[in-house]
Amino acid sequence: MLSSLSQTARQLNAPPAGRTAPDATYVKLDTNENPFPLPTIVWQSAIIALERQYLYPEDDNLSLREAAANAYGVATDHVIAGNGSSEILGLIYRAFLAPGESVAMLSPGFSFNRKLAMLQGAQLLEVRCDEPQSLPIEQLLLGCEKAAKFVLVANPNNPTRTFIPIADIERLVAESDRLVVLDEAYVDFAPDNGLRLLSRYPTLLILRTFSKSYAAAGIRVGFGLGHPELIGRLRNIQNVFNMNVIGHAVGISVLAHRAIYEDNHRHITQERERVASALSQLGLSATPSDANFLLVRVPAGHDGRWWQLALERQKILVAFFPDEGLEDCIRVSIGTKTQMDAILAAISDISGRSKMGISPAAQ
Ligand SMILES: Cc1ncc(COP(=O)(O)O)c(C=O)c1O
Repeated sequence: MLSSLSQTARQLNAPPAGRTAPDATYVKLDTNENPFPLPTIVWQSAIIALERQYLYPEDDNLSLREAAANAYGVATDHVIAGNGSSEILGLIYRAFLAPGESVAMLSPGFSFNRKLAMLQGAQLLEVRCDEPQSLPIEQLLLGCEKAAKFVLVANPNNPTRTFIPIADIERLVAESDRLVVLDEAYVDFAPDNGLRLLSRYPTLLILRTFSKSYAAAGIRVGFGLGHPELIGRLRNIQNVFNMNVIGHAVGISVLAHRAIYEDNHRHITQERERVASALSQLGLSATPSDANFLLVRVPAGHDGRWWQLALERQKILVAFFPDEGLEDCIRVSIGTKTQMDAILAAISDISGRSKMGISPAAQ
């Protein structure tokens, strides 16, 4: 029976292994969360929402979409609300890509896109660009990627942490005749954003999330912003009651109190610079980042996996991306000062032991 399944179905036959959530004694710097509590006023909105737990959430997330439209300066029919932005990313693949078609993405990029393309029976064309401070527009528009039904640009990019100037994004959108998805998951830590392009380009779709800059990864709130025709297609195929009442309430409250988070964003960006320079003194290099994480090149002699394991033994979790050709790197999320001091101390300790020839297994 299995032999008659398609390749996609066979790949899906092995379910994900799943991972036990690390307990609170771990310093978790592997998935770019923002480890700060919700502001009191946002927290209270969640508690109030719990009193309505017996009701289904609001139909089509209308008041959340209205609040987002208001905050982002667009009309409500330009907004879709998602259970995290990854839900909306999934809808984009289903709405705009048929089996056998292709989509183009800068590589190294957000690996979840590989799974989404595979689920759709489509091909992900990865355009290699290690230092995408500027966009390889010609390659994206004229190369083999010309066949792509849409182009995905994460800005700042994950895991490379780089930010492409909005003028380059605009050129891509203006010169392309197809949909461009601008994933701005990390944009609140960057110097600029693409919102102003929305009114000019009906082929642009922007994704936002509250998982990174608004410390709400576990609550799952994300948005898609774009022309009503694009957004309408996504809303049409979205699951009913896709968000829960807490996500709904927290989303509205965050949007009303975004200014409260400025201190948080300032802390993360300042901490990011402090940690980058401390790492270089320890012999690791972290090039400037526009996101809430650093891509850290480890010293010659050991690869990123070695460092990931050595840190894990000290209860510090970081990410490693061998599939993206980043074997000599680890990705480190920026958290609280205490967390960052802990990883700096651990790296200093591991470097010292490594110089003395002590293996990570013994560390
Ligand atoms: C580039 C990028 N886009 C989207 C997401 C998904 O975020 P969420 O589904 O939590 O909104 C992530 C998460 O790490 C990301 O790195």
